[in-house]
Amino acid sequence: MKVCILPQPAEVIDYAADLLVDHLAVMPDTVLGLATGQTMVPLYDELVRRYRDGLVSFAGVTSFNLDEYIGLGPDHPRSFHAFMATALFTPTDMDIQRGHLPRGDAPDPAAEALRYEAMIRAAGGIDLQLLGIGKNGHIGFNEPGSRLASRTCVKALAASTRAANQLLFHSEDDVPRFAITMGIATILDARRCLLLATGRAKAAAVAAMIEGPVSTGCPASALQGHRYATVLLDAAAASDLRHGGDYHLERP
Ligand code: GLP
Repeated sequence: MKVCILPQPAEVIDYAADLLVDHLAVMPDTVLGLATGQTMVPLYDELVRRYRDGLVSFAGVTSFNLDEYIGLGPDHPRSFHAFMATALFTPTDMDIQRGHLPRGDAPDPAAEALRYEAMIRAAGGIDLQLLGIGKNGHIGFNEPGSRLASRTCVKALAASTRAANQLLFHSEDDVPRFAITMGIATILDARRCLLLATGRAKAAAVAAMIEGPVSTGCPASALQGHRYATVLLDAAAASDLRHGGDYHLERP
C-alpha cells in the first residue's frame, strides 16, 4: 500500500486527476472502477474540466461502479446512476452505454449481483478501481463484518452509513436499507486501486485501514494485501496515523 499525504484536499484531487489522466493516456480503452460519494465530486469536476480543456478523453472507457441502492431505478435523482450521469458521463465524451452500475430496481437483487460480477469478469476485469472510504471503514457498501472474500452481493447498510448519506435524501427514513455492492474480493481483483480520503471525519477509519490489523472490523484494511494500492490523503484524514511521518509527504 503506497500512502501519500498532501496538505490540502485540493492537492489530493489534483494528484488523483493526474494519475487518472496519465493512465487513460497510456490505456484509452481502460476498464475503470468508479465510486460515488462526496469525496469524488471535486475529482469528477476536475476530470470534466480537463476533458473540456482537451487534456483527456473518456471515449474508449468502460466503467463499473462499486454499488447502487436497492429500490432506486436509474432515473431516481438520488440513485448512483443519476450521480454518475451528472458528475461524469454526460459532461464528457464517455459512452453512457458502457458506464455500468448494478440495477437497484432489478426484481431479483441477488441475481442482479451475480449478473454484475459476471459482466465485470466478461469485460476482462477492472484495470483501475477508484475508492472512497466510509467513516466506519467501509469500501463500496461492504460494511464492518463483511467477509473479506465476498463477491458482488446484497448488503444491509449500517445505521451510521444511512445517517451519513441522509444529506441527499429528505430524511434518514428515506435512505434505502440495502444496496448491491461489489464484494471485497471483487475490489481486490482490480489490477490497481486508488483510494482517496479527505477530512478529519475519515481519520479513524484511515488509521485502521493503514495501521490496523487486516480485519472485517475495517473492510478497507483488506487493501493492505493488494499488490498495487495507492492511498491519497489530506493532512486532516491522516491525522490519526501513528507513523504519519513515515509515508510519502509529497508526490512520489
Ligand atoms: C458511500 C459509498 C462509498 C463511499 C463512501 C464515502 O456510502 N458507498 O463508495 O466511498 O460512502 O463517501 P463520502 O465520500 O461521501 O464520504
